[in-house]
Amino acid sequence: MTVLVTGGAGYIGMHTVAELVAHGEPVVVVDDLSTGHWPAGLFDVPFYSLDIQDGEAVGTVMARHGVDAVVHFAAKSLVGESVRDPLLYYERNVAATAQLLRAMVRQGVRRMVFSSTAAVYGHPGRVPIQEDDPKQPVNPYGETKLAIERMLRWGGDAYGISAISLRYFNAAGAHPELPIGEDHRPETHLIPILMQVALGQREAVTIFGSDYDTPDGTCVRDYIHVMDLASAHRLALERLRRVDAGVEVYNLGTGSGHSVLEVVRVARSVTGHPIPVAFGPRRAGDPAVLVASPARAQAVLGWRPRYTGMEDMVSTAWRWHKSHPEGFGTAGGP
Ligand code: UFG
Repeated sequence: MTVLVTGGAGYIGMHTVAELVAHGEPVVVVDDLSTGHWPAGLFDVPFYSLDIQDGEAVGTVMARHGVDAVVHFAAKSLVGESVRDPLLYYERNVAATAQLLRAMVRQGVRRMVFSSTAAVYGHPGRVPIQEDDPKQPVNPYGETKLAIERMLRWGGDAYGISAISLRYFNAAGAHPELPIGEDHRPETHLIPILMQVALGQREAVTIFGSDYDTPDGTCVRDYIHVMDLASAHRLALERLRRVDAGVEVYNLGTGSGHSVLEVVRVARSVTGHPIPVAFGPRRAGDPAVLVASPARAQAVLGWRPRYTGMEDMVSTAWRWHKSHPEGFGTAGGP
């Protein structure tokens, strides 16, 4: 029983590969390396540089390795890019996942853990957000992830596929021991940007909006450590193998919100750098507050986030950025 991880060379995918390998799970990775970085030699798992749209090649990998479940990360995931080029997101997220599911059906693989997002909720009507709250995405990224969740529901009925969609809130941090972490090009996420300022790679961080209806006027997010996301994928996989789960969705967050200014303060204390800030206009599409109710994942999956403090997230991110100032591009590799 081998797990196929698509997008296993991306940030969350790679940490999940590390988690599965650490638990003795046989893994095979497929990634087209369009945005990911595969740390060759770090994991003793087969790696295929493939686009999941090539259903035939992916099917061959499934058959060769005796795959019984797919953990599906491979996707485009930048909100701004999705607004500029929505068709890219329909092609690379929705259509590509249809190809992947087609390959699964052909190969008799009937379990999928799917990488979804809090972006499916859009501007939430209440916080903490529960899974059954209204889904009204405000950008094509969230819309295409929601379309895939629905594709899985219909596919579950039609082809007998069991699927668990995991809606991540704000993934943060890095592996506490292995040389892997967050490396997006371009970088748009708050914590890696703060690390870049602390490394002297940027002058300052621009805070997008200071007049939100929040205690300090800056946006509040539910940051969740990437290792805790990884353990949730392992638990979801265990559940799919244990019970005929049908199609389920879970929020993954800690249930606590942190404002942008709070994160900046923690980053200053962890790095010892003053991290200058400039206040800029709001960024289009940013909800004021996004905080998860993780109650369902806790009750049903038995998931318990371990790295719940903002210090845990920022200090593991800092460890990675300090030792890899050029990310995976650092000479000598990971
Ligand atoms: N922010 C700044 N300045 C920056 C970067 C970010 O002020 O230079 C702020 C943002 O406005 C936001 C917060 O920091 O309030 C976090 O921003 P990120 O870009 O790190 O994360 P997002 O909340 O925008 O995005 C995350 C995921 C997306 C997902 C989205 C909604 O990365 O994939 O949550 O769930 F779509």
